[in-house]
Amino acid sequence: MNLRAVKGMNDILPDEIGRWHRLENALRAMAALHRYQEVRTPVVEPTALFVRSIGEITDIVEKEMYSFERHDEKLTLRPEATAGAVRAYLEHGVHAREPITRWYYLGPMFRAERPQKGRYRQFYQAGCEVIGEPGPLIDAEMIDMLVALMSQLGITGVTAHINALGGPETRARYREALLGHFGPLQAELGEDSRRRLATNPLRILDSKDPRDQQALGSAPSILDALGDDDRAHFDGLRRYLDRLGTPYTVAPRLVRGFDYYTGTLFELVSDAGDLGAQNALVGGGRYDHLVSDLGGPDVPAIGFALGLERVLLAMPDEGAGKEPCIVIAPVGAEGAQEALLVARELRSRSVPVEVDGRMTSLKGMLRRANAVGASHCIIVGEAELSRGVLQVKDLLGHAQEDLPRADAARILADRMRAARPAGGA
Ligand code: HAM
Repeated sequence: MNLRAVKGMNDILPDEIGRWHRLENALRAMAALHRYQEVRTPVVEPTALFVRSIGEITDIVEKEMYSFERHDEKLTLRPEATAGAVRAYLEHGVHAREPITRWYYLGPMFRAERPQKGRYRQFYQAGCEVIGEPGPLIDAEMIDMLVALMSQLGITGVTAHINALGGPETRARYREALLGHFGPLQAELGEDSRRRLATNPLRILDSKDPRDQQALGSAPSILDALGDDDRAHFDGLRRYLDRLGTPYTVAPRLVRGFDYYTGTLFELVSDAGDLGAQNALVGGGRYDHLVSDLGGPDVPAIGFALGLERVLLAMPDEGAGKEPCIVIAPVGAEGAQEALLVARELRSRSVPVEVDGRMTSLKGMLRRANAVGASHCIIVGEAELSRGVLQVKDLLGHAQEDLPRADAARILADRMRAARPAGGA
């Protein structure tokens, strides 16, 4: 039997987890500073929620959802979290309690995409959603927060691309312009784009098909189709970003794979690290009609999600040191009994401790203590206990001493605290 993880779904082993924790801590700190509160929604939602919010004619809904049926319910592993957040917002009547809702989430998402570096079938997103703010002030704050986060994480070569999709009227106008442009070129397009010409021509702009590239090069810009309100919103966003000094690039071809988007759209891309083709670190935008489309009041909203794997690929490796710890090596039955008590005393003083319970040779236990990077190995043997002491080997200083049994935990905890580098956790 050859049982392996599902293709595109990764194990994250303990030697990588330090970087994950650092990123997650930075994300939670950023969220707290901007007064976002965490929401946790289920990983499984009714399929209809994604079809209605993301849209039927989108790559995600057409090809990438993990859907199944159980007890006559059609269910889907969430491909993203905005739809679930809005469902929870409505289900719990949050709109009736507060005019502005600022939520963040962090967790796994599932899309049956073709796996490659930076693109997986289970991946982690952290995202923020602000429901109840029409923008563009909040749009600018969000983009600025993300640009600052990337710089704080040491990620270089980051560009914020912004675009405006406009409301339904702008979109209808732009749709006509796209039909006028792509219609006569139909024969040159790939089959996906030809189909989308009839269903959702905006999605053609997102096409990676080489056959479409020429027609895409000369496609009209949505910025020329913006109505007055949409243009005022976009200009307002740009003025805020200019005032903040947040660098950005206007990207009139930026469209994103969800039908719920309405106005401001943005992506942060980076040419740093190991990203390769999957260089979008963050994607987001306004979805001013999603709350009402899902049966709620007419409340505007904006949000984004950031891909943790991609950010980790772009983040410089700072070679994290191992957390200092102590290994206890018990010798003999009496030593084993006492070892658990010594470990408990050290842990109560916040010292991470591992007891080697194999009862093998002292040499083997010392080898393991060195391998895990322990600063000390405490030998709890019958001979030492009968003298009222513990034998302590300082593995970094290569010294050895006997400490009184009663004071050993306090003395070692004090020493480890003193040895900790300034600013360390
Ligand atoms: P999205 O652009 O589909 O937007 O995903 C956001 C980010 O998740 C991407 O920029 C990327 O970093 C990461 N990501 C997406 N797919 C994969 C994958 N297959 N493997 C690895 N990372 C991936 C959304 O999901 C929207 N819900 C964002 C949003 C929130 N808009 C408004 N509110």
